[in-house]
Amino acid sequence: MMMKYFIANWKANKNLKEVEEWLNLFLKLYRPVKEKVIVICPPAFLLTYLQSRIKLIPNIKIGVQNISHFEEGPYTGEITAKSLTSLADFVIIGHSERRKYFNETKQIIEKKISLAYKYQIEPILCIRNENDWLADKKIRYVAYEPVYAIGTGNNEPLEKVIQLKNKLNLSLTTSFLYGGSVNDTNAKQYLSSNQIAGLLIGEASLDPRMFYRIISTI
Ligand code: PGA
Repeated sequence: MMMKYFIANWKANKNLKEVEEWLNLFLKLYRPVKEKVIVICPPAFLLTYLQSRIKLIPNIKIGVQNISHFEEGPYTGEITAKSLTSLADFVIIGHSERRKYFNETKQIIEKKISLAYKYQIEPILCIRNENDWLADKKIRYVAYEPVYAIGTGNNEPLEKVIQLKNKLNLSLTTSFLYGGSVNDTNAKQYLSSNQIAGLLIGEASLDPRMFYRIISTI
């Protein structure tokens, strides 16, 4: 089996108590499998708590949902790549919600990608379509998330996802992920395809049982 990635994007959901409950349940169900990598992306202020809980558990990594495009300095409220060194393994960059509500441009996204690399945090670039792909940046993880499919229950069928992938001309070192209304009934079609290296899961990752069922579909 090829390596499959399961990225839980919690967005602006959950407080400390809810994360505690999520972990209590999930860790009871979870059995590590060599070819499956779980990446949990909580709200940033919960990273250290999450880290303390999963430190000794194989194949669970920590991600953040965003980083600042500033490296460091007087930027009140910003969370920089530098400040996340040794706390986060992955960072989601260019999510369509960030592009839409926080006016993230291609220039800002490119800055974030280079800061992520500088501080050894692996970027997962989210693209809405082929125009968002940054072919020259040697990005190792790309997540295709069509806007109409995010949070709507209207996931994109596998054939269309693969059509989009083919337009990107990815190198063999880039892992292609899909996201948009993934749940425990539609996950299998993507996971059984050797074209798809994993899933970016929003809503369905908030429930530990549902998230566990998605991981267990293959
Ligand atoms: P969704 O979100 O699974 O709730 O559609 C996916 C995402 O936006 O990353």
